[in-house]
Order: sequence, then structure tokens, then C-alpha cells
Amino acid sequence: MAKQSSKFVCQECGGQSPQWLGKCPHCGKFGTMVEEFDEPIVEVKGSIAVSPSKPTLLKDIKKENYERIKTGFKELDTVLGGGIVPYSIVLIGGDPGIGKSTILTQVAGELSKNKKVLYVSAEESLSHVKLRCDRLGVIGENFTVLNESRLENIEKASKDYEFIIIDSIQAVYLSDLSSSAGSVAQVKECASRLMRLAKSSDKTVFVIGHVTKDGSIAGPKVLEHVMDTVLYFEGEPQDSLKILRAVKNRFGSAQEVGVFEMTESGIKEVVDYNGVFMSEERGAQAGSVVTQSISGNRCMPVEIQTLVSKTVFGMPRRMPIGVDYNRMVLTLAVLERKAYIPFFNQDVYVNAMGGIKLSEPASDLAVALSMASAVKNVPVDKTVTAFGELGLTGEIRAVSFAEKRVLNAIKLGFKTVVVPKRNYEGLKRFESQIKIIPVSHLYQAIKAVITEEKDA
Ligand SMILES: Nc1ncnc2c1ncn2[C@@H]1O[C@H](COP(=O)(O)OP(=O)(O)OP(=O)(O)O)[C@@H](O)[C@H]1O
Ligand SMILES: [Mg+2]
Repeated sequence: MAKQSSKFVCQECGGQSPQWLGKCPHCGKFGTMVEEFDEPIVEVKGSIAVSPSKPTLLKDIKKENYERIKTGFKELDTVLGGGIVPYSIVLIGGDPGIGKSTILTQVAGELSKNKKVLYVSAEESLSHVKLRCDRLGVIGENFTVLNESRLENIEKASKDYEFIIIDSIQAVYLSDLSSSAGSVAQVKECASRLMRLAKSSDKTVFVIGHVTKDGSIAGPKVLEHVMDTVLYFEGEPQDSLKILRAVKNRFGSAQEVGVFEMTESGIKEVVDYNGVFMSEERGAQAGSVVTQSISGNRCMPVEIQTLVSKTVFGMPRRMPIGVDYNRMVLTLAVLERKAYIPFFNQDVYVNAMGGIKLSEPASDLAVALSMASAVKNVPVDKTVTAFGELGLTGEIRAVSFAEKRVLNAIKLGFKTVVVPKRNYEGLKRFESQIKIIPVSHLYQAIKAVITEEKDA
């Protein structure tokens, strides 16, 4: 009998090697190479590949009536792009204990009111699922639970159901493959089998995925490729506030975020998120400035706080939470060289409140103002908000959605908004409702909201 060929696959990045290595040459992690045997390609009955497709003219393609299905959570619907698209496959990833099973149990409870739902629990026993359902008050008529981890059996059992929830992809396995559940080969193959199940037999599939130590979904990148939508559930373990973020969405914006709160009776959505990312006490202490941040279709006020303390010895520390490290270092360099505010002997800690991650450059100006306010020990008034991108020469660049940001500031009762000069022309019409300070350079913004306060 011919020897079965095998290869060594890194369980972190999916990199391959013909021999065992202690350190993965692709991602540099130690002890992650596992031997996997090459499997013959098994044609799955009923898969898309079995029946050859004919090329069709665009005008001849019949439009299906894909009405989005509501999940019972407005926030989740928004992140999904307006509800669940039928026959799609959605992956939800997150840290252990963040609430992935909880949110999908609640969604399953809501959907089971008029659809047939199968909750496949590969990690927990039936009685554990029942215990959670009782705690959450989920009593769906058509809520069926299956305690199974073999994918072939899950496929068989899912025939009569419209919604399938897999908890979790790392716990299910195909018996055709010799590698263990959760390995790269298993996750890859199970994900594509589930994708085929969704597309070829008209089912909507939700998949829960675990994350690795560095926060990405455990398994190969192909897992995210086969999904229609990939969502991340994030939040500090000790904080009840959780944020659901879309990182990929074939049917909507991938920048949406949803805000949730974990309570004893389950996950609740936070509809009025305006107070979540800023405190009432801001303005009393130096170092806090509010920016208007756009994520997807909405604008959220986010308070940025900075704390500086004298470096005792060695290198000064730079520690951002919710702000990109490189942008923070860059902002400090611009403040030193272009606004002549020294930070070389100061440890700097920056925090975007509420556990949100600010990824857009429009928050640069508020971050810079918060740093300047902290080091000068002069508070910025709580009625002031700012947005704008910071260039390396200290110029404040125009940003998109300036009108939306100003309108949100007006709605929330801010009295002054600092905006990039290049955005000013389109914002003049709001001047009767809010004081607009157009700035073209960082020192103008600092002078307007920090130095003047000190003089007064
Ligand atoms: N009785 C309770 N009261 C309050 N909160 C609870 C209670 N039981 C569980 N929780 C909350 O639910 C969370 C666990 O949720 P869940 O099991 O949905 O997480 P998970 O993301 O599925 O975790 P895992 O990755 O381990 O499966 C806990 O972190 C805890 O905060
Ligand atoms: Mg779970």
C-alpha cells in the first residue's frame, strides 16, 4: 500500500512545511506545527460543484426576494447591514466568555417564534443550554437543540431547519479527516462544508468562532473568506459594555458597530449610546476632549482622555487604549516639533472611553488636543468638541462626513466645534446653532481651546 503523504501545518497561521519544525518559519510561533495527512478530495453530494452551472445573461437572472430578517436586536441588525440576509453564513468571533453563545441563544429564541431553528451545541450539554435558556427567558416553540460535534450528523439533522447555529466551529469535526477538531484542516473543511450547506440547501447559518491570543479568529484565513459576514464581539471582561464590530460584510458596511450590555438576564442592546463613550465629569479635569467619530452610518461622540506623568527613569512610556499606537507616537512628534509642546520626559497614556477602537484619522485632532490639555494641565470646556486629520507638518486636513459630525454635535448640545478649515465652507450654514472654529494648523486649535481658557 502506498504510504499516505503528510505535511506539517502551523495551527496559528496555516503555514506549511514538509518536515516538523519547532518554530513556524511563517509566523515565528513556537510549537504550533502539527502533522496533517493529505486527504483525497471528497465530492460532497448536493454541493454547488456537482451540477455544472450554465453561464447566464445578467438580464435573465431572476431576482430573488431577499427580504432581510430581523434578529430582535436593532443593534445587531444594523451591524449586519439591516438584518439577516437569507441563506447567508455569518461568523461571530470573540474572547472566551464574552457572550457569543448568549447573544446567539437570544437571537435563536427570537427567530424561533416563526422559523425553525436548530442550535447545534458542540461544546455544552443539552442541560447546560437549557439552563442558559431559562436564565435568558428564551422559550421558543421551534427552538431545537442538538448536542453533536460530527459535521456529517449535523448536516443530516439540519434538513428541516431554516436557521442553523453552530457553537462552535472549533469543536465540530469531519470524520473523513484524521486531524483533530479545531485544527487548521478541520476548520477549513468544516467551514466550506457549512458554506455549501447554506448556499445549496437554502439555510441561514450562524457560526461561532474562538479567537487566538492576539485577538484574531482561530484558524486559517480561509475561514473568514468563505463567510458572507464576519463579526467580532469585543469588550473588557470586567466591563459590562460589549461592542459588536463588522470586519467583513458582503451585504452592508464593514464599519458598523453595535453597542451591547451584558446583564444577568442576558445581553441587552444600548440604543442611546451617546452617553456611553463620554463622561458627565469631563471638562473638570485636564486631558479630556470629545470627538465625533463616524462608524458605518452613524456618528458617535467619543471622549478621549490623556494622562501624563513625569518619566522617572529610562525611556518615556506611550500607552494607547482604543487609539492606534503609531498614530499616537506620530501625534506626539507633531506636538513636539510643530506646536513646541515637549513630551520627551513624560509618560503618556491615552484612552478612548467605553472600550471603543478609534480607527479613523478624523479623531487625530481631538487626541492631540487632549494630550496638549493634559501636559499644560488646562481643561478643555465640556461644551467643546473637535475633529480633523493631523498631517506631519501640523496642518489639519479635511475629513469626510463633516456635516454629519457637526449635526451630531448640535444634537448633543455642544456649543463649540473645532473643524478643519477646508471643511468650513460647507458648514457655515450651521453657525446660527453652534460656534464653529475653523483651523488650518494644530497650534491654532490649541490656542483656541486651551490657551484662551487659561487666560480667562
Ligand atoms: N448568572 C449569571 N449572571 C450574570 N452574568 C452571567 C451569568 N451567567 C453567565 N453570565 C455572563 O455570561 C458570560 C458567558 O457568556 P457565554 O457563555 O455566552 O460566552 P461565550 O462567548 O459563549 O464563551 P465561550 O467562548 O466560553 O463559549 C459570562 O462572562 C458572564 O458575564
Ligand atoms: Mg459559548
